[in-house]
Amino acid sequence: MAESSKIYKKRIIKSGQDFHFVDERGQKYLDGISNMWCNVWGFNENNITNAMIDQIKKIPHSTIFGLSNLKSMELSRYFLKLTKGMDKIFYTDNGSSAIESALKIATQYWSNQGKETKTRFLSVKSSYHGDTMGAMSVGYVDLYFKKYKHILFPTVTVPKPIGSRLDVSNREIDTDRVIEKTEKIIEENSDKAIALIMESGAQIAGGVNIYPAGYQKRVAELCRKYNVLFILDEIATGFGRLGNMIEYIAQDSIPDIACFGKAITGGYFPLAITTASRKVYEEFEGEWIDQKHLYHGHTFSGHPVGCTAVIENIKMYRKNKLISKIRKNSNLLVKRLTEFNQFPIVSNIRGKGLLAAFDLVKNGNPIKSINGAPISMFIIKESLRRGVYLRSLGSTIVIIPPLAIDKDSLEIILNTQFEIVAEIYKSIK
Ligand SMILES: Cc1ncc(COP(=O)(O)O)c(C=O)c1O
Repeated sequence: MAESSKIYKKRIIKSGQDFHFVDERGQKYLDGISNMWCNVWGFNENNITNAMIDQIKKIPHSTIFGLSNLKSMELSRYFLKLTKGMDKIFYTDNGSSAIESALKIATQYWSNQGKETKTRFLSVKSSYHGDTMGAMSVGYVDLYFKKYKHILFPTVTVPKPIGSRLDVSNREIDTDRVIEKTEKIIEENSDKAIALIMESGAQIAGGVNIYPAGYQKRVAELCRKYNVLFILDEIATGFGRLGNMIEYIAQDSIPDIACFGKAITGGYFPLAITTASRKVYEEFEGEWIDQKHLYHGHTFSGHPVGCTAVIENIKMYRKNKLISKIRKNSNLLVKRLTEFNQFPIVSNIRGKGLLAAFDLVKNGNPIKSINGAPISMFIIKESLRRGVYLRSLGSTIVIIPPLAIDKDSLEIILNTQFEIVAEIYKSIK
């Protein structure tokens, strides 16, 4: 939360224009991190904002406790059509809560069957699923969570895959060994395993690890083989980030439960979705006396303004053929990334869709600071000075532009990143 004001002056944002933040002095900053990975269309008025305004005039808030509302119903039908193998929807208001709901649904799936011996989640090393207690427990990233480690619930960790890289062909990546180890761990823990949870398509916050082809499908198959529920987190990777609308469909790996957030409203409203398959939902059916239902709900679940945003957002994806536009821009991004190879401090360049990253290293060690400041702060400061807003994940440099970005703005982001890396190289070589 607290980023040192001694290192750079925090800008106070007053408005937005195109893909720019505009601060109180009227300075513009191109959004190079898609507003914490949720910015799709930028900041101008559009069909989504207008539909939200219309909706807020009709009813600004309407609970779904004991009632329903038209927009939450419309969205559930509409959203489930996008997915595959999902039958029911659960609304929350942020990604971490969508994960907590998924964890509770998975736990209760077993306890409704009297299987209370199912007590452990399996998670993939270096995953990130949010900042609430359950999400931290299943998505441990040491840097962020070490102060809470002693109170997080225990999980069983399976190894992370060796991520795909632009300079290494997928055939050279040894996924077999990771899958063998994963299978051994799943088998050993299948009696007590509630579910295996992982990010869909790529890990992002834990260091940007883009899965090699076939890995996710094989994990899904293992979960089925050992009767362990499979939960996929599409919060950061779904809705186009990796060039696919629903990443798990592209990965041919249908989960039992899937979580969506961030880009689903275009970033315009805090809303997240947890979906569940028919198989999962059936364990919650019964008479009230059976007490099988999910005692979990949030004040803002199914908010009609948020649901309206998702509906209009999906319509805009279709109307603007956004997924094919993302794929085109991805070609440009991947091509230009190779230019960073000229810096000896740049290693492990990877990219897919509109997600790209590389590591800054010197003598095999991550470059953590520059001129006495953490590298991430240096990047924020230097990018803002150049009229772009960029962040890094420690010594991992990330490029995560808004999904509907135009080619020229993408070039500006890349040029700025290039200049900053050149400056880092100059000062530490
Ligand atoms: C993969 C993943 N899951 C869950 C979350 C948590 O979402 P939120 O920040 O909306 O709670 C994030 C946030 O970055 C994420 O990247």
